[in-house]
Amino acid sequence: MNIIEMHGVHRVYELGTVKVKALNGIDFTAKKGEFISIMGPSGSGKSTMMHMIGLLDDITKGKMKIKNIDVSKMTENMKTDFRLRELGFVFQFYSLLPELTAIENVYIPLMLLGKKNHELKSSAMKVLEMLGIAERANNYPHQLSGGEQQRVGIARAIVNSPEILLADEPTASLDSKSADTVFQAFRELNEKLKQTIIVVTHEEALGAKADRGIWLKDGIIVKEKKF
Ligand SMILES: Nc1ncnc2c1ncn2[C@@H]1O[C@H](COP(=O)(O)OP(=O)(O)O)[C@@H](O)[C@H]1O
Ligand SMILES: [Mg+2]
Repeated sequence: MNIIEMHGVHRVYELGTVKVKALNGIDFTAKKGEFISIMGPSGSGKSTMMHMIGLLDDITKGKMKIKNIDVSKMTENMKTDFRLRELGFVFQFYSLLPELTAIENVYIPLMLLGKKNHELKSSAMKVLEMLGIAERANNYPHQLSGGEQQRVGIARAIVNSPEILLADEPTASLDSKSADTVFQAFRELNEKLKQTIIVVTHEEALGAKADRGIWLKDGIIVKEKKF
């Protein structure tokens, strides 16, 4: 089953009188449970593509379906609900709240979904365990290494069991060893939870840990490869 379908997707940003064509006709499908990496030079449209898939921004032209739902037919409320329930996001700068502990950072999305207090901690603990950082649950972000902080970021992204996990350059601020552990975590999540994972990375050696890679240049896909 195709969980994501993009057909001839364009995104044009208008800055005053200047038009920036960030995406120029993307044809892309992701099957449920696939682990895909997106590579390509800076400015090639990788983040824009992630924003489209993450329903954070609208496409200018073309067609896009997520879980067989035509995105152009979704209201803003439906999109917000979809983002909370079906999508998990991991960012370059872990964006953890510094005044909250690791476990508290992880259960924020569950609070937004109105889950009960006792469920919060047990669900958060489960994903921290899965990512090998349970013993850091009560540490504050500044007491964690970069790799650990990013794994907390991933734990937060998956705590509501989203079907699709999106990560935009999640390892760009990490040393290579920590970056490896983060990709290892993606691999394990993909195998254990059959999540669909899409990761943007600059580093081809990391990208090759996915099932399949696509390369963007000037807003189009210029290369695809199975690993
Ligand atoms: N919000 C925006 N407004 C205007 N231009 C944008 C915006 N976001 C991205 N762009 C432009 O679109 C192109 C693709 O950007 P982006 O998707 O961020 O590339 P990448 O993530 O591959 O570095 C770039 O030329 C960038 O300057
Ligand atoms: Mg980017």
